[in-house]
Amino acid sequence: MIQTSEGRKLMSTDAIVLLKTDHKDIREQFRRFQQAGENAAAEKGRIVEKIIELLTVHTYIENEVMYPEVRRLLPDLEDDVLESYEEHHVADLLVAELAAMTPDAERFDAKTTVLIENVSHHMDEEEQDWFPKVREGLGRKQLQDLGERMIELKKTAPTSPAQPSALKKAIDAVIS
Ligand SMILES: [Fe+2]
Ligand SMILES: [Fe+2]
Repeated sequence: MIQTSEGRKLMSTDAIVLLKTDHKDIREQFRRFQQAGENAAAEKGRIVEKIIELLTVHTYIENEVMYPEVRRLLPDLEDDVLESYEEHHVADLLVAELAAMTPDAERFDAKTTVLIENVSHHMDEEEQDWFPKVREGLGRKQLQDLGERMIELKKTAPTSPAQPSALKKAIDAVIS
């Protein structure tokens, strides 16, 4: 059994189970932000820091392992993968801007709300539209291998958008 960074227990190393568990942790922080109410700048600041950390790690392991492997192994899903890369790129831009802002900034809440809307849509699309096709197209063993690689990569994944490996990802998205 594997313990995730957010304290959840994973019963398998299946790639889709792993990514959906990340999504759960991300949605939980989104809810906390939405429930924080007015005049909670300090609390919202801490929640956004957590959101940034979770998103930076999650998009990193998807970009480095899940997306390129799905693209290679299931060419029919190429359009879905390319659209997902673009959605990550939009999230990266918002995350980088938020990381440079203080919670009392005029646009802090608005920018976080737009990030939440975009990422929620993106995670819904992954879970409903193309993860089921990935499960159908790849065997159990292949999904476990991918999951194991992502669990391993999480140990060295960037947790902040200013770290070199996160910056490289952002630059690749613009020039490739
Ligand atoms: Fe994603
Ligand atoms: Fe995801």
